[in-house]
Amino acid sequence: MKLFPKLALLVSGLLLAAILYVSISYYRGEAREIQDQTQQEERQALQNLTHIAGESFITDDDLLLVQYIRLLVQQNPEMASASVVDIKGQIRAHSDIRRIGKKEDDAVPNAASVLILSESIKFGRHMVGTACVEFSQKKLNEKLQLRLAKMRRRFLSVTLIGLLMSLAACFAIALSWTRPIKRLAKVAEQVGQGKWSLDLGTMDRRGDEVGFLAQSFQSMAVRLGELDRMKEDFVSSVTHELQSPLSAIESFLNLIDSKGESGMRPDELKDCHKRIRVNTQRLARFVSDLLDVSALERGKVQLNCKPLDVGALAQEVLSLFEFKLQEKGLSSHAEVPASMSKAQADIDKIRQVLINLVSNAMKYTTAPGHIEISVEDLPAKKKLRVCVTDTGIGIDAMDQLKIFSKFEQVQSAKLKVKGAKGTGLGLAICRELIELHGGEIGVTSRWGHGSTFYFTLPAAEVPPALAPPRQKERFPWETQLST
Ligand SMILES: Nc1ncnc2c1ncn2[C@@H]1O[C@H](COP(=O)(O)OP(=O)(O)OP(=O)(O)O)[C@@H](O)[C@H]1O
Ligand SMILES: [Mg+2]
Repeated sequence: MKLFPKLALLVSGLLLAAILYVSISYYRGEAREIQDQTQQEERQALQNLTHIAGESFITDDDLLLVQYIRLLVQQNPEMASASVVDIKGQIRAHSDIRRIGKKEDDAVPNAASVLILSESIKFGRHMVGTACVEFSQKKLNEKLQLRLAKMRRRFLSVTLIGLLMSLAACFAIALSWTRPIKRLAKVAEQVGQGKWSLDLGTMDRRGDEVGFLAQSFQSMAVRLGELDRMKEDFVSSVTHELQSPLSAIESFLNLIDSKGESGMRPDELKDCHKRIRVNTQRLARFVSDLLDVSALERGKVQLNCKPLDVGALAQEVLSLFEFKLQEKGLSSHAEVPASMSKAQADIDKIRQVLINLVSNAMKYTTAPGHIEISVEDLPAKKKLRVCVTDTGIGIDAMDQLKIFSKFEQVQSAKLKVKGAKGTGLGLAICRELIELHGGEIGVTSRWGHGSTFYFTLPAAEVPPALAPPRQKERFPWETQLST
């Protein structure tokens, strides 16, 4: 069964039960009230008769009493008779005039057909007679049923109107719940077909759960769109990264084949070999990056952490790039304090991080530019902080949030790079490696004003025996004496 009829049935069923329960309880209460009211009226009629009888006893005016009884019986059709009997048992007034002056009848009336109510008439503490009214049970029941039937009709019509209104309301509610779900289902279908721009109307502005669902849908579609774009970019980058070195290798091999090694000048042949090697290295690096990302993501990378002199490693990495940096007209420097703590890190992995960061700095800095690696101690945090700063093109604040994710590249920066564009894996690998060490990685940069990539590493615990002896504190006069 579809959601709409299910919801409509459920809500209307619940409403029906609630309305019926309320109506029946209210009806029962009202019926009791009507019964009490009828009994009250009967007692009131007797009390009035007792009162008038008392008055007529005082004034000795039986005529007044007789007239009152006649009126009483006329006004209350369910009253079979009314009478006043004095203390001697003689009837002083009766609705049946023929019985006035006679002795009170001793016959016991049939309680099933007649309801008899009587009350003593008193002067002070002395009883002077009895007032009595007889009601026909049949007529009393008829009167009660008449009143109940009237009330039932009123109730029925109110309940019916309430039911119709609540049914309409519940259909409207069910419709308002299922319509956006239907729309969301359609939109999900479109997402499934690869359409990322969704038409959700005003649904995402609703303040309820459906609104939140629509918003989640919207952000999911945006994210899927981004992933799709990244996938396309990745495929084209991968294709380019594979194709360009492969075709370069192929063309140099063709050149060697066509001319023959003996037909080429030695420097020409050497140049061909060099280019083939460079392109092979480029291919190998790309494949190894892909493997690294996959291994890091699957948690397959094991660290071999030892105390590491990060300053020396920074010098080593800069010297690796020395030739390329000179070629590009860039200067470089490693800023390392004379006494530095060692980091507890895996040398190969940190070398990989520094190579990635320096190669990025070199790629995105044009001559005349400068690249610096600085290392500083953060003793309070028991960490070391390494910064790779360049004077290159810089990175926009929005892009800074994304570049540490896989395959994320700044499109405007990509256009400025000559030669290999990369695939956007370098920083993702750096982040994984640094986080694996328990450190943090980040960037501070401004578009057009260079960038500083920084990361932290835990400082190596120095065993007390190996720690350099603390310098004894010297007082000024001691210094003066020694000099
Ligand atoms: N020093 C920098 N200056 C300016 N932009 C940078 C710098 N370093 C990284 N970026 C930006 O961050 C993006 C991601 O860098 P990342 O190292 O992950 O990828 P890549 O260098 O493009 O490719 P790969 O490293 O896989 O060869 C780069 O494409 C570039 O836009
Ligand atoms: Mg890179």
